[in-house]
Amino acid sequence: MQRVPEIIEVEHALGSYPVVIQTGLIDAIGEWLAPYLEGRRTPVIVSDEQVWSALGEQLSGALLASGISMTPVLVPAGEPSKSWTCLTDVVERLLDLGVERGDTLVAFGGGVVGDLTGFAASILKRGCNYIQVPTSLLAQVDSSVGGKTGINAKAGKNLVGAFHQPSAVLIDPTTLDSLPERHIRAGYAEIVKYGLIGSLDFFSWCESAALDLIGGDVDARSQAILASVRAKSAIVARDERESSGERALLNFGHTFAHALEAQCGLDGGLLHGEAVAAGMILAMRLSAERGLCSRGVAERTRAHLAACGLPTEMNEIGIRATGSELVRHMRHDKKAVGSRPKLILSRGIGQAFVDDSLSLDEIASFLDSELRRTAHRHAALR
Ligand SMILES: NC(=O)c1ccc[n+]([C@@H]2O[C@H](COP(=O)([O-])OP(=O)(O)OC[C@H]3O[C@@H](n4cnc5c(N)ncnc54)[C@H](O)[C@@H]3O)[C@@H](O)[C@H]2O)c1
Repeated sequence: MQRVPEIIEVEHALGSYPVVIQTGLIDAIGEWLAPYLEGRRTPVIVSDEQVWSALGEQLSGALLASGISMTPVLVPAGEPSKSWTCLTDVVERLLDLGVERGDTLVAFGGGVVGDLTGFAASILKRGCNYIQVPTSLLAQVDSSVGGKTGINAKAGKNLVGAFHQPSAVLIDPTTLDSLPERHIRAGYAEIVKYGLIGSLDFFSWCESAALDLIGGDVDARSQAILASVRAKSAIVARDERESSGERALLNFGHTFAHALEAQCGLDGGLLHGEAVAAGMILAMRLSAERGLCSRGVAERTRAHLAACGLPTEMNEIGIRATGSELVRHMRHDKKAVGSRPKLILSRGIGQAFVDDSLSLDEIASFLDSELRRTAHRHAALR
């Protein structure tokens, strides 16, 4: 077990923050947090009920061992907590606890807790500090780094939010031991994404290490987290606010994924990482159809994600919609320019690029052909 911390410094416009990755970090969390508490010995920890029942005792015990008592603010587990109702409730509870502008909140949980706490921190007393202590694989490899925070709106996912950088990100891969396997698989989709957008070598490593990683091998998990954080932090340091387009590459598969999520509802029936897996395959298949990459490359990607138990076809996630119904959800996509969404397409594994040449009608007709193809396959299998 690797005990030496790996520390990656993430640069942003106003400074930088460390991302620390260390197995067993949680047992020394008080030492890591102390420099950020500035004398306040009762930090507020925002978490969800499921994370708290799995890890709350370990966290509070470790803090007490450093002489730090804390106040937990808990929200229900799951995507519905990224809502106006929950945000209002959290902000009111933080105000009741007397949180001040110079204080540091701690987000202890998955991407939902991280996005919600970061957004609450960005608006509370016109902005206070927060630290991410991510506990899901998705949050450790993706959402805790980069400072995108927010909640969902009726019109779609992540439509209300702010860029607000954390003061630090503290990652302990052993916290994943209590994460249900379905969420490990879903988080894995965001790891593969880094290979697909920028590194054939990393994708090949994923093909060889995925089953160990999903099965619980802490070394494979640590390596994947380190490689993912390095890849994401390099991109967000160069394009913090998605202005040059480079950060948009991180949305590979996401325009399709957000449409699939909106179609399925945000109640946990389809997990974000599962939607991303199916969305990345749609992006690869569309790239192959337009002659940008070979069909073999698209099939290699599909085969790997399928071997990892992730959905790769729309019929597997029960999509009963037309192409135009799906693209309607893309109109609200923050990446849309007029009626031409910014899609991330591929010239091969590791060679993603931004493309806004396709109209919503063309995307709808591609999706219709995909829906027909998978429906035929489904019928043929019965
Ligand atoms: N801000 C960003 O840059 C960014 C990037 C990608 C995704 N996201 C957002 O992240 C969210 C998805 O994150 P997620 O998959 O972590 O979802 P999540 O936060 O809902 O966590 C998944 C489930 O696992 C549970 N859980 C988390 N850690 C656990 C642990 N160690 N032990 C037991 N249970 C645990 C949670 O209670 C929850 O039920 C989406 O809302 C997505 O939009 C944000």
